[in-house]
This record gives sequence, structure tokens and C-alpha cells, in this order.
Amino acid sequence: MYTPHPTAMLEETISGLTCMPGHVVVDCTLGGCGHALAVCERIGPEGLLIGIDQDAEAIENARNILSRYRDRVKLVHEEFSMLPVILQQMHIEGANGIVMDLGMSRHHLEGSCRGFSFQKDEPLDMRMDVRQTVTAETLLRTLNEDELTDVFYRFGEERYARRIAGAIVRSRKKRPLLTSGQLAAVVLEALPAKARNQHIHPATRVFMALRIVVNRELEKLERFLQAVPDCLVSGGRLCILSFHSLEDRIVKRYFRQWEGRCTCAPGIPKCVCNRSTSMRPVYRRCLRPSPDEIAKNPLARSTRLRIAEKR
Ligand SMILES: C[S@@+](CC[C@H](N)C(=O)[O-])C[C@H]1O[C@@H](n2cnc3c(N)ncnc32)[C@H](O)[C@@H]1O
Repeated sequence: MYTPHPTAMLEETISGLTCMPGHVVVDCTLGGCGHALAVCERIGPEGLLIGIDQDAEAIENARNILSRYRDRVKLVHEEFSMLPVILQQMHIEGANGIVMDLGMSRHHLEGSCRGFSFQKDEPLDMRMDVRQTVTAETLLRTLNEDELTDVFYRFGEERYARRIAGAIVRSRKKRPLLTSGQLAAVVLEALPAKARNQHIHPATRVFMALRIVVNRELEKLERFLQAVPDCLVSGGRLCILSFHSLEDRIVKRYFRQWEGRCTCAPGIPKCVCNRSTSMRPVYRRCLRPSPDEIAKNPLARSTRLRIAEKR
């Protein structure tokens, strides 16, 4: 059973995509198919939705949910930075719209049994694509204290990264760290009392960091953004929903550069200023969910929607 997902900023995303009958639209992150269903309705029988997800369970779910639109849907079990290859294999020169929703799917948190949530006691897997070999358990078993500190600091922005890494290394000497419940308990114990009573669960950042590293999330996003201008036809739109500052920083950097507003000093390795671009942001700032949506779905409160168009 696939856990239903509350789709974030559905109206704003679909109107941002400007879907029309006959359009080719790519949903890079199918998940529960909320965006995909709305796209299918708008593109009509002459249109094509290419639905991508790196999780086989999401693809299986999409096969059911989108079955009544099977005349206009192609599903691809792949990761989204492979989009140029996917389009090439389908002999498609470019899409009219591309949507990417970088949130955590409710299925991963609540239904996948893969240890994404500190509120459950499940095997520490955290792979979205189970064909990969490295799991969260592998990292927690094999990285040394400095490496774990680096992971929690860089990818979780966790200020107690070193304390937590030390506690993990001590704990795994006594018994292997195998479940999300065990990890949450070790993190909680490692923190000073004042850090345990925050508005977010104290293990949130550690879980996020491990998930990002296991799934190489930032690397894939960066590769996708480099390639995306060549995946759209002229006038085609890209809509990206991001949910945390690390990924939004990457998206924002590309949007700034597309706008000709990059402020990086020359020679900065991550800088993309010198690359000529055919993309233009549609709005200078990101769009945010309405108070009404946040009231109905509090998890949507951190959503940032950015839209760009190919000239
Ligand atoms: C938040 S869900 C998408 C929800 C969907 N928009 C909806 O309305 O139901 C994110 C999905 O993206 C997938 N995903 C994350 N990173 C991916 C990647 N690099 N390539 C392909 N799929 C990815 C996840 O497996 C998950 O199913």
C-alpha cells in the first residue's frame, strides 16, 4: 500500500507550468502523483506525461493512480538527473513543462518501513532507490567520528554534530546501530538538555543529513539544474518546489545566474556565472503557500516554488 501524499502548492505549480492540450510535460518526482494527475487532465489525449521516480514503489503506485490516463503517460524508474538521456531515448527534443517536487513523500516517512522517520523503529535504510548499495546503516557503521561530524554539520547544519558523532561511535562499540529508534535515542542522549526541547524533534537534522547523503540528493539536483535548459523547448517552463535551505540555496543560485544576478567572486568552484543561459526566472522571488494551505497541511509551510522559462 502506498501512503497518500498531500500535494504542495498544486494550483500555483500547475498554473506556473501553463499546461495546454498536446503538451509534453515531465514530472521528475511522481511520488503520490498529485501534480501528475493534474497535468494529465490538462494535456489531454494528444499530450504526453513522462513520469519519473527513483523509487520503484512510487512507480508501481503511479501505474494504478494514472491508469485511466495510460494513453498519455510514460513511466520511468530512474533518477531525475538522467532526464537528458530519457528524452533522447524517447526521441523528444524538449518538454513544454518540467515539474520537480523535492519534498519528502509521506510514503517514505510513514509507509515505506525504510527508517526515514525518527518517530518509528525501523531498519536504518533510507534509500529511495533500493537498487543502490549504501544505506544509512552502512554510513553509521563505517564512517569515522570526523566523517560523521562532517555529514551532520554539512548536510544537517547540526550545531552539536561532533557530540552526536562521538555518541554514535561509542554506542556502536557496544552494539550495532540498526534501527531508526536506536539512532533517535542515541542522538537525544548526546544533546545537552537545552537542545532537547526545541520546536523540532532533536533528531530531525541528523536524519535529514543521512538521507541526503544516502540518496546523494544535492549532487543529483546540481546535475539536473546544469542539464535542464537543454531539456525544454523555447517557452517551456520549469517549476521547482524546495523544502529546506540546502536544496533551495542550490536552486536559488541557478535562478540568480539565469537572471544574470550572480554575485559570486570569479573562480569560486561552485559558481555557474560564466555559463551562458537561455533560462529566465518568471518571478524574481519564490512563491509561498497560502495561509489556507498551511492551515490544512502544516508540512507545506516551508515550501518554496520557483518558476523559470526557456527563452
Ligand atoms: C514529495 S514526493 C512527490 C510528491 C508528488 N509531487 C505528489 O504530488 O504526490 C517526492 C518523490 O520524489 C522522488 N525522488 C526524490 N529524489 C529523486 C530523484 N533524484 N530522482 C527521481 N525521483 C526522486 C521520491 O522517491 C518521492 O517519491
